Amino acid sequence: RDQLLFSYKGILYPRILYSPEVFKALESFEARRDDVILAGYPKSGTNWLSQILNDLIAISQKKTPGSESSVNAEEQEEFPYLEIGDSEKYERMSKLPSPRFMVTNLCPEKLPKSLFQNNAKILLLIRNPKDVATSYYHFSNGVATVPSYETWDDFFTDFMAKKTAWGCYLEYLSEWNKYADKENIMTITYEEVKENPALSVKNIATFFGIPLTEEQLQLVVERSSFQSMKKNSDKTHGSFGNVLFRKGTNWLEQMVKELADAKYTEEEMKERINAEKKLETFQR
Ligand code: PPS
Repeated sequence: RDQLLFSYKGILYPRILYSPEVFKALESFEARRDDVILAGYPKSGTNWLSQILNDLIAISQKKTPGSESSVNAEEQEEFPYLEIGDSEKYERMSKLPSPRFMVTNLCPEKLPKSLFQNNAKILLLIRNPKDVATSYYHFSNGVATVPSYETWDDFFTDFMAKKTAWGCYLEYLSEWNKYADKENIMTITYEEVKENPALSVKNIATFFGIPLTEEQLQLVVERSSFQSMKKNSDKTHGSFGNVLFRKGTNWLEQMVKELADAKYTEEEMKERINAEKKLETFQR
């Protein structure tokens, strides 16, 4: 594990992506009021929401999402992950035109103070921890950047004990929860986007002050569906696409599918689902 991960201020990170020097340089980053920031723990659906936000930014610039003209040079200049790059990244970012789009996997207290002082708008994406953990387990065994695990039990023990990269998801959630009421932060769940993508895209656009026609809304929704993102993933993510766009579902949907495949009667299915739902409420 030590070969792949290093610890910075109490949290483990993959060496290949992060460095203490860049974390230090990040402290000087100056956020702007019109920045578009997506905050989410890995595996919570950050690529999905990034796709939605990029399309909304294109629309705000009078471009058609997915068209040649919507891929503009400025957008491609910096890797969207705020904390990934080199120490000079923040100096370069200070010269980029607005709106700048960025994603962060960090907890609020690991982020530069200016993000909160300058009232930058942050979309906070959260997902059921069970699904995050499941997604993370498969991810661990599909990429070389983080340690792999032979069994779910080994993974889960480490995941709960802060021994996996990016720290404990439950701590991440409770840290962000302290900021949830702030006016410049909008919280959205993976589950609500899945259940009603059109309403979610509309709400996100309103939060960032981007007007949308019905046609534009439909286009954003269609382009961000799991099927179309997976289909396009060769182009957008290369071979990583297969690992990244795994199932795109949540525990309840998955369970209904499994129960149906196992040919339970409708009554038995209802019972199981109700029992699981009760357990969920209890755990919360
Ligand atoms: S990463 O590696 O941290 O960047 O991963 P991240 O993008 O945050 O999360 C990956 C999970 O999001 C699912 N996903 C989607 N779900 C629904 N709709 C769309 N369009 C979509 N795109 C990605 C992806 O399948 C991963 O979840 P799992 O459960 O592993 O399938």
